[in-house]
Amino acid sequence: MPERRISKQARSVIILWVIGTVIGEALVFNLHRLMPSMLPPTASDLAVNTNLTLGVFTAVAVPVAMVVIAVAIYTLATSRSREFPDSDGPPIHGNSWVQGSWLGTSAMLCVGLLVWGLALMPGIYSPRPGKNLVVDVTGQQWQWTYSYPGEGNVTSTTLELPVNVPVTFRVTSVDVNHSFWVPALAVKVDANNGRVTTAYVRPDRVGTYTVECAELCGLYHAYMQSPANVVTAAEFSSWISSQRRSGS
Ligand code: CUA
Repeated sequence: MPERRISKQARSVIILWVIGTVIGEALVFNLHRLMPSMLPPTASDLAVNTNLTLGVFTAVAVPVAMVVIAVAIYTLATSRSREFPDSDGPPIHGNSWVQGSWLGTSAMLCVGLLVWGLALMPGIYSPRPGKNLVVDVTGQQWQWTYSYPGEGNVTSTTLELPVNVPVTFRVTSVDVNHSFWVPALAVKVDANNGRVTTAYVRPDRVGTYTVECAELCGLYHAYMQSPANVVTAAEFSSWISSQRRSGS
């Protein structure tokens, strides 16, 4: 194959790659406008980080995916055979420039994303500063129960949280394995029998969200949900008082 033809092919693929990458990145950066319900609402410090991480990973993945897509589109458009070919094409041997840059670029991307993830991890697995509201979460087939040891052990099947107050969840199960998941708060932690797992978060947006179970736990797993209400401090204390009255 003459040298000129290869460079012309490469140029076409690069043009396709640039166009695809620009369109792809424009979609990624405007996804929250184009499809507002694609991601859960961000109602906590964790949720902001989680959605940002998802965005960064997707933005980094777009140019990589576009290499494959650009080559595929170019090949389909220029070298498609109408009939079924009777033999394979000639074998292509290594191109050290392509191999080297592919290896180098993917290594750089992987290490960069690893560092990004490691930098965010301490924030996920450590309590938020300040006095934490402790909520004991118990999973059972097929219901969540919440108890507030610092508030006279008020117990409820609705998760009620005051906005902007750091929370420590202590999660367990009385039967099989469940997983305590509040998508809007980006909290997801195993609920295992005989163990207490913890999760930390600071809800920062008032609203009504949903708690789900994210571990297949039997027949009604999909219905193991409860409301999660993030409310103002005043609403929270009046809720606690009303729960106390109805509990006594
Ligand atoms: Cu509990 Cu699935």
